[in-house]
Amino acid sequence: MKVPTKDQSLRHLQKGGELCGKVKVPGDKSISHRALLFGSIAKGKTTIEGLLPAEDPLSTAECLRSMGVKISPIQKGGIVEVNGVGLNGLQEPQDILNCGNSGTTMRLIMGLLAGQENYHFILTGDKSLRKRPMKRVGQPLKMMGGRIYGRSGGELAPLSIIGSKLRGAVIGTPVASAQIKSAILLAALNAEGPTTVIEPARSRDHSERMLKAFGANLEVGGEMGRHITVLPGKDLKGQSIIVPGDISSAAFWLVAGSIIPGSELLIENVGLNPTRTGILDVLEVMGADIHVASRRDVAGEPVGDLEVYYKENLKPFKINGDMIPRLVDEIPILSVAACFCNGISEIKGASELRVKETDRLAVMARQLKRMGAKVDEFQDGLTIYGGNELKGCELDSDDDHRIAMSLAIASIMANSNSTLRRSEASTISYPDFWSDLTRLQQKN
Ligand code: S3P
Repeated sequence: MKVPTKDQSLRHLQKGGELCGKVKVPGDKSISHRALLFGSIAKGKTTIEGLLPAEDPLSTAECLRSMGVKISPIQKGGIVEVNGVGLNGLQEPQDILNCGNSGTTMRLIMGLLAGQENYHFILTGDKSLRKRPMKRVGQPLKMMGGRIYGRSGGELAPLSIIGSKLRGAVIGTPVASAQIKSAILLAALNAEGPTTVIEPARSRDHSERMLKAFGANLEVGGEMGRHITVLPGKDLKGQSIIVPGDISSAAFWLVAGSIIPGSELLIENVGLNPTRTGILDVLEVMGADIHVASRRDVAGEPVGDLEVYYKENLKPFKINGDMIPRLVDEIPILSVAACFCNGISEIKGASELRVKETDRLAVMARQLKRMGAKVDEFQDGLTIYGGNELKGCELDSDDDHRIAMSLAIASIMANSNSTLRRSEASTISYPDFWSDLTRLQQKN
């Protein structure tokens, strides 16, 4: 097979053209990872409908297969079957577990493996993942008796885990991160005694919802549901899971539909878990014309269809503090939206973006400035001055899926055509993004 060169991923981006029609975004990435992981350690069969057939969940599935879990092929539109091996049924893998580009895979698997007694595991990932902080998970797992080692004093992968008998603990996490929380909850299932995680602000709660559905003994309490307690000793039972569309993928169409003159979009089957819908709140503040139709509950997660219409004179917005976890992955596309608001938008308290697949604050500031936007970059955020015309230019995703798709939307609003390097990064979370864009983009 020929290895693709950089130039093969250089994409020409046509300016202009309203976006009209229906779109069904792929399955939620966070829920897809969890369905595979929890299904693997449940007893019996789990079926998953709507699982995201993209690189990140494929990394999770491959790691689990290497530990003896039978998972049927993951294909677009297919139902995936996971034959769970039970809480203590994973095998010691014969080789290194490769988590690819996926932080969720690595961090959740750390929690899963810390308590697999006497087995030895090595976790690694791609160039980006090997730069991302892992001590934030390794440290709390150590408090439970975990043995986890890595480069730079345990901060960086490759990581080595020696499965150990874990004990329950009360753990306050330093950052509101669903990845840290979920790793601890996974470890807690195999620990001796109860474990409580206390978050500084509530992060996405897919793990709590799904673990309860699988039969775990889990309680959510405290102010805003920030205290989560797991009592071990209960087997998980295989479930039928339906994965809703990913609001983080819908976000590109929500912003595109709002800022591109003449656009009218219907985004079907989008997950509307309140711990994820911060983007809808921000778009409302901006005055965007978005309606939620047919709200329903699907397998324990709220879902709806979203109608979005172009709106003139959008207002600027301010994002800070506790709002961040509810829209952490949407900040790149919201910074594009800010360029088209009448006034100055501020994003603060978002330093977590510096340790995502790329330093998303730096990369978005750099790329938007190349297009002629006025952006001030701070350690924990961006100030974006709306209303400056953007020009077409040579853009680069820096191998980050959300940056690639955000820049694609910005380029439609530019005054001339652009090119995008490393555009294929989008396959991490949205494999059909480019074909959906071409279909929805109606040339003037
Ligand atoms: C995720 C949690 C978020 C998010 C990531 C997926 C998850 O990360 O950015 O894309 O599935 O738990 P943090 O929880 O570390 O902020």
